[in-house]
Order: sequence, then structure tokens, then C-alpha cells
Amino acid sequence: MAKNILILGGTTEARLLGQQLANRSDIAVTLSLAGRTASPLTQAVPVRTGGFGGIAGLVQYLRVHKIDALIDATHPYAAAMSAHAHCAAMQTDTPLVSLCRPPWSAVGGDRWTEVHDAAEAARTLGSEPRNVFLAVGRQEIGHFAQAPQHRYLIRSVDPVDPPLAVPHAHYIQDRGPFGEEPERELLRAHAIEVVVAKNSGGEATYGKIAAARALGVSVLLLQRPPALPVPTVTTVGEAITWLDHVL
Ligand SMILES: NC(=O)c1ccc[n+]([C@@H]2O[C@H](COP(=O)([O-])OP(=O)(O)OC[C@H]3O[C@@H](n4cnc5c(N)ncnc54)[C@H](OP(=O)(O)O)[C@@H]3O)[C@@H](O)[C@H]2O)c1
Repeated sequence: MAKNILILGGTTEARLLGQQLANRSDIAVTLSLAGRTASPLTQAVPVRTGGFGGIAGLVQYLRVHKIDALIDATHPYAAAMSAHAHCAAMQTDTPLVSLCRPPWSAVGGDRWTEVHDAAEAARTLGSEPRNVFLAVGRQEIGHFAQAPQHRYLIRSVDPVDPPLAVPHAHYIQDRGPFGEEPERELLRAHAIEVVVAKNSGGEATYGKIAAARALGVSVLLLQRPPALPVPTVTTVGEAITWLDHVL
């Protein structure tokens, strides 16, 4: 009988993993999305959408659906979901692996300042008005209302609603990947002085980091949440190897 696999998704890696597992007859994959984006990309495997209802809800889901293995392929900053996966897997003895992109490392020419979170990033921008590119996702945006003196360029997949309560904000709706050259154009066109970003890792959103380096623009980088004591792989191929091993 096919083994039941649950992938916690919302990332390119989760989608690619689903694609690679979709035709396997020995496993039945379900991909879980939080339901944050209005028009999510299509997936190659069946999808369930919405929160589980905390750790208890996930424990129940794992039991009811007889999940044989759990792959946490959420974004590195989806700390609550990953913590819930860790606890629920322990409570149910479900094998768990984290599929997580390694963070970017600074190279020569990068002008990075690491900050703990978006609130610290907003404070670190300083009192002088600056042109700031916010590329941190909609959920973190609200903190920048504390620093209304700056002019913000805000990019997100879905509209920021309600808009940020500042006098100068320009919104762009777009979905990656974003290459270096278009990112350079964007930074130039808006005379960006500071980029605020997460250290997401991977290629798809590295363009803004490379563009900032090329133009000598500062980057405020939000630190990643602390890692959990969970076996971790960094590629889709390694996740499949892990899966074959535990099954
Ligand atoms: N944070 C980012 O920067 C970022 C960037 C790109 C994509 N994403 C994706 O967006 C989604 C939400 O991220 P987040 O940072 O808001 O998560 P989060 O803060 O860790 O999670 C908050 C709650 O949302 C629900 N949830 C999150 N991911 C889920 C999933 N894959 N399936 C079902 N429920 C999920 C859970 O609700 P319950 O407690 O009710 O189960 C969780 O407790 C994730 O799928 C993540 O991979 C996040």
C-alpha cells in the first residue's frame, strides 16, 4: 500500500519536490499551503489549504491521515509552522525532515547589516529620510509605520491591505524569480539607498542582493529564526533520498 507523505509547502522547493514525487506509485503525497496568497501556483500533487489549528491540530491531521513521513519545506522564516511540525512529529513518532535552503553569505562588496527582525530594521533606518526597498513580504511590513519619514518601495505577491500608514509608499505586485539586471534597474529607478530583506537563500530572490552589491547599496538583512533540532537537507534530491531511506 502507498505510504502517505505530507509536505509543508509555500516554497519553490516544496513545489519541485511535489513534481518529482507526483508519479511515484509507492507514495501518496499531499502538499499543505497556508493559504496566504490569493492565486497560488498550480501544484503537481493534491493540495490542502489553511492552518491545522496549532500543534494539536497537526497531531490530529497526522493521525487521521496516517502520515508516514513529514517534510517541512516551508520558508526558512516560517518559524511557527516549523516549530509545530517538530512538536507534532515527536508526539506522533512521525519521521520529519526539514528541507531548507542554506542562507546567503556576504561576499566582497556586500554592505550588509544584520538585524534581529523587522522592528529592529525599521529603527536601524535612522531618522534621516531615505529611499528604502522593502522586500520582506507583507507580514513584516507593518513595523515600518514606526519610521514614516522614509520613502518606501514595497514589493509583494498580493496587495498590501491595508496599505502601510506612511506618507510615501510605492507598491509593486510581482512574483519572483527576480534576476540581477532587472533588480538593478528597479533600485536605480527608485534611487534606492537601503534594501531590507530576509536571508532567504537560493537563487530566485538573490537578484536584489547582487544588484545592491553592484550599486553600493546597503542591505538590512533580517536574521533567520533559530534552527530546530531536526534533520535537515538542503536540496530536493536529498529530501527524496531521506524519504526513500525512512520508508
Ligand atoms: N515567512 C516568509 O517569509 C515566507 C516567504 C515565502 C513563503 N512563505 C510561506 O508562506 C506560508 C506562511 O508562512 P508564515 O511565515 O506565515 O508561517 P508561520 O508564521 O510559521 O505560520 C503561522 C501559521 O500559519 C499556518 N501555516 C504556515 N505554513 C503553513 C503550511 N505550509 N500549511 C498549513 N498551514 C500553515 C500554521 O497555522 P496553524 O497553527 O493553524 O497550523 C502556522 O502556525 C508558509 O507556507 C511558508 O512556507 C513564507
